[in-house]
Amino acid sequence: MNPYIDTLQPYPFELLKTLHSGINPPSNLSPISLSIGEPRHRPPAFIVEALKQELSGLNTYPTVIGSWELRSAAARQLERRYGISEGRISADNMVLPVTGTREALYSFAHAMFDTNATHKNLVLMPNPGYQIYEGAALLSGAQPYRLDTWQRTGFKPNFKEVPPTIWDRCQILYLCSPGNPTGAVHTLDELKSVIELAHRHNFIIAADECYADIYQNEALPPAGCLAAAESLGLSRFDRVVVFHSLSKRSSVPGLRSGIVAGDPALLTKYRLYRTYHGCAMPTYVQAASRLAWEDTAHVLENRARYQAKFATVLPLLAPYLEIASPDAGFYLWPMVEGDDTLFARSLYEQQNVVVLPGSFMARTGPNGNPGQGRIRISLVAEHEECLIATQRIVNFIKDNYHV
Ligand SMILES: Cc1ncc(COP(=O)(O)O)c(C=O)c1O
Repeated sequence: MNPYIDTLQPYPFELLKTLHSGINPPSNLSPISLSIGEPRHRPPAFIVEALKQELSGLNTYPTVIGSWELRSAAARQLERRYGISEGRISADNMVLPVTGTREALYSFAHAMFDTNATHKNLVLMPNPGYQIYEGAALLSGAQPYRLDTWQRTGFKPNFKEVPPTIWDRCQILYLCSPGNPTGAVHTLDELKSVIELAHRHNFIIAADECYADIYQNEALPPAGCLAAAESLGLSRFDRVVVFHSLSKRSSVPGLRSGIVAGDPALLTKYRLYRTYHGCAMPTYVQAASRLAWEDTAHVLENRARYQAKFATVLPLLAPYLEIASPDAGFYLWPMVEGDDTLFARSLYEQQNVVVLPGSFMARTGPNGNPGQGRIRISLVAEHEECLIATQRIVNFIKDNYHV
């Protein structure tokens, strides 16, 4: 048995199950889950229709590289979204389809990490963060190195605080901007400086940008790593690979469709790896995904629905919780009074509302657990349900805490 398996930590939702065990929430209150980051808006009809139309392709094996049309649609969309020069992202060798960014974020480390470089064995990642980065590092034989994100760091890693000796030992840096769970966004200058660090210290950047299209201010779309690389004159995005998903952008998490784009030297090797990995995107998913990348109207509509939910929920919670409006993403990351696990457990017990304790999303380091005392509220349910849940959270706080 691979000994690294035993280094994997239980997934946050397993911990949540244990936290809830033995509780019978009030049956007169409908269950509302705001814990999982699973978009629940109705999927766009044209995507569903395209899937149906293309089902005749079931008798063919899909290829790892996918159709040129899909890769080209995704490349053009990234260029438009980030103001990258048209044609800069080559559909020939700078884009690969993946069956959701989760498997790609996980498998990428396996393909890239050099286990022989024992003096350079770190994979850096935000803490709290998406747990897949940690699993990817551990199963690749790397040592995870966590970059804590606190209120004082603007809820994102402060790269200036990382010692040069750590950068020297870094092989892969996972970035997550917009961040899960904090919703914080790296500026273009921050992305540029971290790309410069990657070149100075010889590491790869795996930039998870799967929340790139869900943001609060229409005039301020989050910056991206490929645009940062281009503005540094890196026309082939050397050392940078980005991960984009249709799950959040188009509200189709069940489609399992994403893309990886960037440095062709890295993607050529990753493509070879994926030939063996065996997660080629089915042809009907490719066809529907191509249309989804080409269209922006549904993305605007989807984003507007999240913006409306934030506009409703934030003013209701603000008098009762220390809460800030995130720049992007669909999570709230408020402070709660006392222990976050007790808060989440009692909220479920009294109001049948499920949220994720912040400490389940982070690891404890020398400065403590940066998720401690916070909860993640995922505004994925429809507007009305989010409003009902918010009212229940307010009632819960009034009933249990000094306000
Ligand atoms: C930060 C982050 N990255 C990646 C993913 C994976 O998304 P998907 O596999 O649906 O593309 C998620 C899903 O919740 C996420 O929160």
